[in-house]
Amino acid sequence: MDTAAEIITSNLTDKISRLSITETLRLLTEIYPAQVSFSTSFSLEDQVILDHIAAENLPVSVFTLDTGRLFSETYSVWSASLEKYRIPIRAYTPDFRLLEPFVQEKGPNAFYESVENRKQCCFIRKVEPLKRALSGQKIWITGLRAGHSGNRSLLSLLEWDEGNNVTKYNPLLHWTQDALKDYIRDHQVPYNILHDRGFVSIGCAPCTRAIRPDEDFRAGRWWWEEAGKKECGLHSTSFDNLKM
Ligand code: ADX
Ligand code: SF4
Repeated sequence: MDTAAEIITSNLTDKISRLSITETLRLLTEIYPAQVSFSTSFSLEDQVILDHIAAENLPVSVFTLDTGRLFSETYSVWSASLEKYRIPIRAYTPDFRLLEPFVQEKGPNAFYESVENRKQCCFIRKVEPLKRALSGQKIWITGLRAGHSGNRSLLSLLEWDEGNNVTKYNPLLHWTQDALKDYIRDHQVPYNILHDRGFVSIGCAPCTRAIRPDEDFRAGRWWWEEAGKKECGLHSTSFDNLKM
């Protein structure tokens, strides 16, 4: 992080330390008008954040990375959210100039064959579209939680993202899974019905399975890979090993 970015992040951290999520979101949109974006995968976390944004009609740009391989149940939550909240959700899709040759050369399910293929697929379908979505933005709101994994337990509410040149705000960092479920129930927030069928962390359909209650939160993601390699690149600061 360069010094300017460090100062911005630490000043903001001081400012938001005593604010609610809604107050923080409002403050960020006042400091950075038209430069605050929220990425949603329609997870429980993201639905709670969307509900906060919609409740106060906050001027946050909401976008999703439509990889083309999402579950039909995920598209249903997307539709239900548009209907309930009536706010635009912009879809970023993969660049056909990258996707078509990749599928032509390696086939539709190449991600099962090697970690390298899987990272290329994630780069084309998620990381490159994310870079476009965040271009020119100052704040990136995400649904990351400390309880997701060991790595994520080390995160802060505000994080500098060198690769995307933005400050990430993770409003639900310290929320538990039970707190999310309570909020969703109490506020009648639309959610992915796969959560009622043993799915916990949900990404693309071919790369996500349901888990047993004793398994780790992210055990259902890329389950055929070693735990240490399960990184799609959205939330790593270095994309060096993902470039094509
Ligand atoms: S991932 O890196 O493993 O795919 P995860 O599914 O835990 O990420 O989601 C964490 C946060 O990343 C979400 O709350 C959301 O902000 C963002 N995110 C993940 N997938 C997408 C997506 N397809 N579209 C938009 N944002 C996403
Ligand atoms: Fe491709 Fe699977 Fe990554 Fe989705 S999660 S972009 S299908 S490798």
